[in-house]
Amino acid sequence: MHNSHFDIPFNVPFIHPDVANYMQKAAKENNFFRNQGYYYQQVQKIMSKWVGHSRIFPTPSCTQALEIASMIIDIQHGDEIILPSYTYASTANAFVLRGAKLVFADVLSYYPSLDPKSVEACITPKTKAIVWVHYGGRATRPEEIITLSNKYNITLIEDAAHAIGATHNNRPLGTFGDMSTISFHETKNIGCAQGGALIINQHKWLEKAMQHIQCGTNRHDFISGKINAYKWMREGTNGILAEPLCAMLSFQLHHLETVTRRRKKLWNHYYHLLNPITEKGIQICTPDKEDNAHVFYLMLPDKKTCTHYQQTLKEKGIHSATHYEPLHLSPFMQSSKLISHLPNTDKFGISLLRLPLHHYITEDQQQYVANQILDLTFKKK
Ligand SMILES: Cc1ncc(COP(=O)(O)O)c(C=O)c1O
Repeated sequence: MHNSHFDIPFNVPFIHPDVANYMQKAAKENNFFRNQGYYYQQVQKIMSKWVGHSRIFPTPSCTQALEIASMIIDIQHGDEIILPSYTYASTANAFVLRGAKLVFADVLSYYPSLDPKSVEACITPKTKAIVWVHYGGRATRPEEIITLSNKYNITLIEDAAHAIGATHNNRPLGTFGDMSTISFHETKNIGCAQGGALIINQHKWLEKAMQHIQCGTNRHDFISGKINAYKWMREGTNGILAEPLCAMLSFQLHHLETVTRRRKKLWNHYYHLLNPITEKGIQICTPDKEDNAHVFYLMLPDKKTCTHYQQTLKEKGIHSATHYEPLHLSPFMQSSKLISHLPNTDKFGISLLRLPLHHYITEDQQQYVANQILDLTFKKK
């Protein structure tokens, strides 16, 4: 039990107050359960305005979008995939499932996203793709990553799970690689409980993508009236987000700008309140004009301090969260005896602590969070 008058959850999903009414109205329509129906197309339409093309496929999750990406580029046993170790298991699973060998590149010293130098050192003739995770909805060193993919002619997949609403040079993240994947899970800035999207930036992969998401059939040609019966053309999965979730998502997406704007304001407020702790050697996440304020984190000096801060905040009713356990240290990777030397990744794995940040947190609550952290940092030992 804690004594505070606040109980501050780490995350509260944004749900527009009119979602329930909207869903009720949608449920009365005849085609509410039709696969790839009106609402599926609405999500495509809304997203295509941002992305600048219409090759967008709402999927049941970002995990599944990554698995489809892995099918599209035809991963074969022994192909190498370069990815960060500081990521969620889904980034890796999509390729492991098809027999790829994972090659973990380190992240930057100042932010947990791929370090282009480390990526370049990992490239071999067997490298099939680079998976670029936009940690916290932010593109770091984009020009260098894109240059590497062009220079070595390696497919670039953006795992933009965190990145809805984020841009670089005013262009949405998810539009820089050959293809990209987005998450609409409840933990993301905007969501529909569970969902995702696959964005195909290279036209040459469109046909394959449309078959892979339709259980490997050419059903889309049947629906458009080009053929009388559809056939099994290649391997595939049911990669289509269900219509009721598309209805919710299409409605929620209209509020993306409001949500992003509010998160950025809250992010800046934390930044301002917590700046004094940097004097004591605790780093705080640096600002970025174009990210989507998905994450606000502190970097504590070591694991013990990180656990102490998290525990003390919890006693005060504040739910903070570490983030990924680096994949190269996971039981699964340890059993495969893959040895990786990733000092920056190791550091983020033990020291990064995320603070509560969501649409509904108030500035008073943020002040309370900051006060506890300032107390912890400056109190006499
Ligand atoms: C970097 C990254 N990729 C992929 C995923 C999987 O997303 P989903 O839950 O939509 O499958 C996550 C989940 O949070 C993630 O953090």
